[in-house]
Amino acid sequence: MHSSLKIVLLLLSIIVRVKTEAGVELIKYTVEFMDSANKFLAEFADTDQDINWSNEINGLNKDNLKLNIKLASDLKAYIKNLNDVLARIDVNIVEDRNLRRQLKKIPGLGYDLLEAEELSELTNVTLGMTEIYKTVNLCSYKNKNVCNLTLIPHVQDIIHTSDDINEIEYYWREWRIKTGSSIRDKFQRFIEFYRKTALLNGYETPSDYWYRNLEEDSDIIKEDLEIVMTSLNPILKGIHAFVRHVMLQRYGSDIVSATGPYPSHLSEIFIGRAFRMADLSSIEFPYPDKSLFNITEKLSTIGLANTKDIFVFVDEYFSSLGFDSFNEHYWLQSTAPKHSADETYLTCFNRVFKFSGLPESKMAYCPQVDETRFYGMFETVAQLHYSRSYKVQPFVFQDELFPNFNDFLEKLFSLAASSPKYLERVGLISKEETGYEYRINRLYLMALQNVFVLPIFHILDKYRVDILDGKLDVNDNCGYWELVEKYIGAAAPFPRSSSDFDAPSKLLIGVDDEYSTQIVGTIIQFQLFKILCENSGQYVKEDPTKPLDMCDLYGEKEVFDRIRTLMKSGSSKTWREVLLEVTGEIELNPEGFLEYFHPLHNWMKKDNSKNNVVVGWTQSSRCQR
Ligand SMILES: *[C@@H]1O[C@H](CO)[C@@H](O)[C@H](O)[C@H]1NC(C)=O
Ligand SMILES: *[C@@H]1O[C@H](CO)[C@@H](O)[C@H](O)[C@H]1NC(C)=O
Ligand SMILES: *[C@@H]1O[C@H](CO)[C@@H](O)[C@H](O)[C@H]1NC(C)=O
Ligand SMILES: *[C@@H]1O[C@H](CO)[C@@H](O)[C@H](O)[C@H]1NC(C)=O
Repeated sequence: MHSSLKIVLLLLSIIVRVKTEAGVELIKYTVEFMDSANKFLAEFADTDQDINWSNEINGLNKDNLKLNIKLASDLKAYIKNLNDVLARIDVNIVEDRNLRRQLKKIPGLGYDLLEAEELSELTNVTLGMTEIYKTVNLCSYKNKNVCNLTLIPHVQDIIHTSDDINEIEYYWREWRIKTGSSIRDKFQRFIEFYRKTALLNGYETPSDYWYRNLEEDSDIIKEDLEIVMTSLNPILKGIHAFVRHVMLQRYGSDIVSATGPYPSHLSEIFIGRAFRMADLSSIEFPYPDKSLFNITEKLSTIGLANTKDIFVFVDEYFSSLGFDSFNEHYWLQSTAPKHSADETYLTCFNRVFKFSGLPESKMAYCPQVDETRFYGMFETVAQLHYSRSYKVQPFVFQDELFPNFNDFLEKLFSLAASSPKYLERVGLISKEETGYEYRINRLYLMALQNVFVLPIFHILDKYRVDILDGKLDVNDNCGYWELVEKYIGAAAPFPRSSSDFDAPSKLLIGVDDEYSTQIVGTIIQFQLFKILCENSGQYVKEDPTKPLDMCDLYGEKEVFDRIRTLMKSGSSKTWREVLLEVTGEIELNPEGFLEYFHPLHNWMKKDNSKNNVVVGWTQSSRCQR
C-alpha cells in the first residue's frame, strides 16, 4: 500500500501541472485521475476489509488494531490529496455524465476542513456527550443507597420489565435532571461546528449539507418528508388511539388522557417492547388468543438444522426469482461462523464483507438457528446479491443507492419470506395460521415496529435541522416538545419548561446521525414491493383474495429484471433516477406502505369506534415557555 500511495501522489502532481499549463488536456487526465482514484480507493477498502474479516472470525487483536489505525490515517492523507486535485478540476465542465458523477462521488473531507483546534474541540464535545450517556449514574428507585445504575443496560432493563408506573416516572425524571444542562452546552457547540463544516464543504445551507446523501435540494427533501408524514397520519392516528386506549385501561385516567397525547415515557416503552421481541407477552394483540406464530421449533421439521441448511434453503428462494445460486464452493471458501457466536439474541447477526477485488463477498454468520436467524438469512443473501451485482460499476459506485438503503432492500425480501403465504408454502405454519386473525396480529406487531418509528425518525432530524437553520433555538425546550406532540402524539409526563433540555438520548451517541434516509428507504422498500407484487399478479388492488401482506414473490421470475436493474446500478445514479427506471414513478409514493397495513387500519377503525375511542389528540400544555 505504501509504495502504491507514492505512485498515485506522483500522478496527482502531474495532473495538477497539466491543468495549469494546458487546460485542453484536462479531460484526458481527468479520466486517468479517476481511474487511479478508483483503483487505490478499492485497494484501501479491500485491505481494510481483510482486517475487519479477521477481527470478526478470529477476534480482535492488538496488531490488527494498529493496522486499522495506520490504514485510516493513510486513507485520510490520500483523500486529502484527491480533494486537492479535485479542487483544481472544474467538475461541471466535464461533459461525460458518468465521469462527472464519479468525480462527485470521491469522498469529501467533512469535518477535516475545520481548523485543528476546532476539530479537537468538536471531538471532545461529541465524545463528551457519549460519555454522559454511558457513565451517568442513577440511584435505584427501590433502594436509594444503590447509586451505580447506568442508563444502558441497568435502567433500561428495569423500565422495560417494570409494571410500576411510579418507578418508570422516577427514572424518566432522574435521567433528565442528571444530564440536561451539561448536554445543552455541548449540543450548542456541536451546532456551531456543524454550520461551519457545511459552509467549508461548499454547501449553501447547513440543511443542504445535512441531507447531502439524498442528493437533492434540502427544500425539496423537507417537502417530500412532510408529504410522507401527512399521508401516514390517518393510520398513525388509528393505531395511536388503540394504543392509548390500552394504556388508559392499564394505568388509569390520572396518567393517560382519553383524548390528549399519551405520555412519552410510556410510548417509548411500548414501542421498545415491540422491538425487543423478548417482551412480547406484555403487548396486547388485537386477537389475544391467536398468538403470533413462532417458527423456531418448526425449522428442524422441514430439515433446517443448522446455518448451512438455512443458507441453501434461502439461496433456493432467490434462484426461484432468477438469481444465480451460491454453490457449495462459495459456502466452503467464503463463509465462517462469527468469533463470538455466543453473542446475545440482540447482537448475533450475520455480517457481509464486500470486496471490490476478490471474486466474492464473504459472510460471517451467527450459527444460531431460530426464527430471527431464518429471516435474517434472507436479508444476508439479498445483500450478497446486491454487492455481487454492483461490482460491474467503477469503485466509487460500488455502493448502496444511499446510506442505509441496503437495509431496506434486504428487508423487502424478509418481508416477502415472513408472509403467511410463504411460511405455509414451505410447511412452517398451518393453513389455519394464514387466517385473518393471525394476519392482523402479525400486521399489528409490524406496525408498531414500522409505522411508529417513521415519525420518530422524522423529528430526530427535523429538530436538529430546524436548529441548524435557525428556526428553533437550542434553549427552546418547548420547541422540541411541540414536534413530539405534533408528529408522534406524545407529551412529557411532567410539566417542562425552557430551562429543561429534553432532546432524546439517541442524539448523544450519534449527534450527527441522519435518519431521513431511513424514512426514504422504508417508503421505497414498500413502493417497490407493491410494484413487484402487482407485476407478478400476487397483489391485486381491492381484491381481498390477493392482499399485499400475503405476497411472497416466490418463483416470480418476471420481477427479476427490475430487481437486477436496481442492484446493478449501485450508486451510479440518484435514487430518483433509479426509482423512475425501476418503478416508473419519480416521486416517493407511500401507497405501498399504506396498502400493506390497510387490513390492520380497517380493523383499528372498527375497533376504535366499537370502544368509543376518540381518534387524534388535543393539545397539551405540558411545556411552558
Ligand atoms: C472496517 O470496520 C470499520 C469499523 O467497524 C469500519 O468503519 C470500516 O468501514 C470497515 N471497512 C470496510 C472496508 O468496510
Ligand atoms: C474535554 O476537554 C475537557 C477540558 O478541556 C477535559 O476535562 C475533558 O476530559 C475532555 N473530554 C473528553 C471526552 O476528551
Ligand atoms: C452497585 O453497587 C452495589 C453495592 O452498593 C454492588 O453490590 C453492585 O454489584 C454494584 N453494581 C454494579 C453494576 O456495579
Ligand atoms: C420462539 O420459540 C423459541 C423456542 O421455543 C423461544 O426460545 C423464543 O424466545 C421464541 N421467540 C419469540 C419471539 O417468542
